[in-house]
Amino acid sequence: MALSKVWISLFLIVFTLTGSISEEESESKEFVVTLDHSNFTDFVAKHKFVVVEFYAPWCGHCKKLAPEYEKAAAILSKNDPLVVLAKVDANEEKNKPLASEFEIQGFPSLKILRYGGSVVQEYKGPREADGIVTYLKKQSGPASNEIKSPEDATTVIDDSKILVVGVFPEFSGEQFENFTTLAERLRADYEFGHTLDAKLLPRGDSSVVGPIVRLFKPFDELFVDFQDFDVDALVKSVEETSIPTVTLFNKDPKHHPFVIKFFNSPNAKAMLFLNFGSEHYDAYRSKYHDVAEQFKGKGLSFLMGDIEASQGAFQYFGLKDEQIPLIIIQTNDGKKYLKPNVEPDQIAAWVKDFKDGNVQPFKKSEPIPEANNEPVKVVVADNFQDTVFNSGKNVLLEFYAPWCGHCKKLAPILDEVAISFQSDPDVVIAKIDSTANDIPNETFDVKGYPTLYFKTASGNILPIELRWLQNLNPERRSCNEGWSIIIFGKSFCENNLMILASQETEKDGLRDEKSYPSPQDLPIPLPSHT
Ligand SMILES: *[C@@H]1O[C@H](CO)[C@@H](O)[C@H](O)[C@H]1NC(C)=O
Ligand SMILES: *[C@@H]1O[C@H](CO)[C@@H](O)[C@H](O)[C@H]1NC(C)=O
Ligand SMILES: *[C@@H]1O[C@H](CO)[C@@H](O)[C@H](O)[C@H]1NC(C)=O
Repeated sequence: MALSKVWISLFLIVFTLTGSISEEESESKEFVVTLDHSNFTDFVAKHKFVVVEFYAPWCGHCKKLAPEYEKAAAILSKNDPLVVLAKVDANEEKNKPLASEFEIQGFPSLKILRYGGSVVQEYKGPREADGIVTYLKKQSGPASNEIKSPEDATTVIDDSKILVVGVFPEFSGEQFENFTTLAERLRADYEFGHTLDAKLLPRGDSSVVGPIVRLFKPFDELFVDFQDFDVDALVKSVEETSIPTVTLFNKDPKHHPFVIKFFNSPNAKAMLFLNFGSEHYDAYRSKYHDVAEQFKGKGLSFLMGDIEASQGAFQYFGLKDEQIPLIIIQTNDGKKYLKPNVEPDQIAAWVKDFKDGNVQPFKKSEPIPEANNEPVKVVVADNFQDTVFNSGKNVLLEFYAPWCGHCKKLAPILDEVAISFQSDPDVVIAKIDSTANDIPNETFDVKGYPTLYFKTASGNILPIELRWLQNLNPERRSCNEGWSIIIFGKSFCENNLMILASQETEKDGLRDEKSYPSPQDLPIPLPSHT
């Protein structure tokens, strides 16, 4: 789950960057309602449709959203039915129980609360004002709209999205009710329509009178009919048939919802990256599509990504431009399998080899440093086994990211620790750039940076808790337990090794959360409270 979040963030960064970011000043009257732990429940109970943004004051994405959200709130304040936009500062200590009640894991998080809060739904719409307004108008209206004319049909059926249409001889009866329930349940993800006349629809048998559900999609066979009106069966049919055989990923936002689905799938994920502008594109596309058809229902999902949109993914996986066209498969245990410079005719055989267990996993690594003679040793994926597991020494290892501010603050301290142990042949102080190297196995739980682990000479692995001095209170500057860094039984506070955290650092939490490629550009997970 957590991994799929990272993947999604990493792909969606493109959309965030290309979306319009208007910095218009908000007007003096505020339309966004501020809520907190004291009045949240009462306020929500009084309203049929409230959108709540959980934010943190330090979160960059929240700052970008704020003027757009306010603009949308102003427009929607005139909407009928009333749509209220509200916000909760989830970083505020007293509001934290509220945030955990709604399982908030990153900022900003938007939820739609219907009918006094009895139905809670994820906000899955755009993040700029016009998009927010359009999405919420639709969400606050009926879940399914009647299609009465061919014009109605052409306005709702296009080549960017899925539309689910119920065809009925009359708008009553159990099938119609079940269709309505389906539409209510999945309205956040799909659009729905209903009609008395199949002739109005652009595809499929136009003589049916129903009841029948016809799903229109912009890919593959373009429409599918279902006749099992059990609600769960309907949900399942819609979910299953709405995944493209091959998900496309480029800068076109219409693919965005399908990319999310791809990453949320429990399957292993095959990704073919190439230049969509290349003359060989069609050859790759058709061969890849054949393979995807062949492996349908066999635990493997397929995506084809344009190199232009995939730079984030390339850095994440440690791939190089000269390797394209390439296929990478990532399994759910985090293993990666790579076929660089693949030819269209090699795709099928290679995927089969992978399935048969005949492909070795691929590991991202920086080159092994030639002279590793600084006090803090450099570990990379390719020498991890030798330096960490097989060295027979006590190893203190820092997992860091180049962009992480807290790691920069730790660096001089780590240096000092390393220098003080330099004459001890049994101790190694080391660091690994976790963004450029795959951590070899699941022994280390690296959720943020810096993360420190200690491997004893006998092979035990222990996480190390970093404790920064939280304020400048002079009494606390002594070497009290809980406020110092103690490594190998040596307390380093006496060598001025404590960090005097600024106000800013305190708010930030102690670590920079793990995300890619830079925390400012992504929905930032809640800071940990170690
Ligand atoms: C809820 O309480 C907060 C803090 O007292 C206040 O700023 C806010 O305006 C209140 N909201 C409503 C809708 O009463
Ligand atoms: C409607 O859905 C319910 C619950 O899922 C199911 O028991 C019932 O058989 C469905 N009705 C029809 C006509 O399929
Ligand atoms: C990680 O690697 C070490 C050394 O090869 C091994 O002892 C350990 O069992 C591995 N742990 C996992 C979870 O694979």
